[in-house]
Amino acid sequence: MSEAFDTVDIIRTKRDRGELSPQQIAWVIDAYTHGVVADEQMAALAMAILLNGMSRREISDWTGAMIASGERMDFSSLSRPTADKHSTGGVGDKITLPLAPLVAACGVAVPQLSGRGLGHTGGTLDKLEAIPGWRAALSNEEMLDQLEDVGAVICAAGSGLAPADKRLYSLRDVTGTVEAIPLIASSIMSKKIAEGTGVLVLDVKVGSGAFMKTQADARELAETMVALGQDAGVHTVALLTDMSTPLGLTAGNGLEVRESVEVLAGGGPQDVIDLTLALAREMLAGAGVTDVDPADALQDGRAMDVWRAMIQAQDGDPDAPLPTAKETEEIVASADGVLTRLDAFAVGVSAWRLGAGRARKEDRVQAAAGIELHAKPGDTVTKGQPLMTLHTDTPGRFGRALEALEGSWSIGAASELTAPGSIVIDHVR
Ligand code: URA
Repeated sequence: MSEAFDTVDIIRTKRDRGELSPQQIAWVIDAYTHGVVADEQMAALAMAILLNGMSRREISDWTGAMIASGERMDFSSLSRPTADKHSTGGVGDKITLPLAPLVAACGVAVPQLSGRGLGHTGGTLDKLEAIPGWRAALSNEEMLDQLEDVGAVICAAGSGLAPADKRLYSLRDVTGTVEAIPLIASSIMSKKIAEGTGVLVLDVKVGSGAFMKTQADARELAETMVALGQDAGVHTVALLTDMSTPLGLTAGNGLEVRESVEVLAGGGPQDVIDLTLALAREMLAGAGVTDVDPADALQDGRAMDVWRAMIQAQDGDPDAPLPTAKETEEIVASADGVLTRLDAFAVGVSAWRLGAGRARKEDRVQAAAGIELHAKPGDTVTKGQPLMTLHTDTPGRFGRALEALEGSWSIGAASELTAPGSIVIDHVR
């Protein structure tokens, strides 16, 4: 590839708060994908973008260039509409597991291309791999067949989808540039638009356990992504949801599968049920299905039937016992009162240190490691009652996992509660 632009010029433009032209953006993404622009040059550009931002037009061109770096999928041959959900990631966020079969049970196909966890947030594929036999890698043909037959598929994104993002995301991960809103928005939306879904519902998390720590940042990210989706002809809405405390009562792969199955069986924690139903309603409405109440499909077993078929179609055994950890340790309440705070980030880091997550891409995760919560903010607790159980196969990990939890919870009066009352904070359309 010839050097149509001078890479250093492009970096200087962004460094000096200038705007990149559509041609410069198309060239730099293509050249980076093909190794013409070096990692150190892209790292400098990513840092300039993190510090100085991008206009909406630049973000749209950047997203388009990342889509153009790879293949686009096409679900138009399916007999039903498609809807997908994307979460910006949080602690205990197992919602994809009950949501995909639930929406499929209501007549809308769900192609859910998912990833693995890195750092303190878990990955959907790591969770499902706790189920004996389950396989994440599917060919495009297998995926289409499963969508037609079962209605829902959760699998690994193939390497053909937005390859520019794969390179750039790994680079951002090691250069302190993950948190740039233009880069997060274009990274997520390039993959979702290339995937070819008709409807996209975004779950943008806010709070200590999320990328976005403030509502203002989360709203800006949500508005940017909704605009990108709508410009690309994808019906896109976003929910801002609370991630100041973990979602549900579990964080860790097998533990989260167990809790998801409880929800599919008509039980489970209320915040997980509420968020699953809120996202399902948005996905169904976007696809034009307004005469079905997803709450019924959770209660009457239809969602569970699709879950079982979805797991079996990918060689998993939905009846096999989930792995259990070799060792557990309990943390107990130090006083009587109300649990007023339980920090999501601390629980995420602790579960990660127990073996539920990985520090490097090559690391293996423990299927049974993680944290089970026995109380959530707002619950009354009594001195000595268990607050959390830590699970791991390697007891040497307990020390650093306990350290991560120091100062992460408070017991006091109900008036000191800090979490918002409802899991869904706002909608962005
Ligand atoms: N998830 C992504 O896919 N990309 C980001 O940049 C952040 C979260």
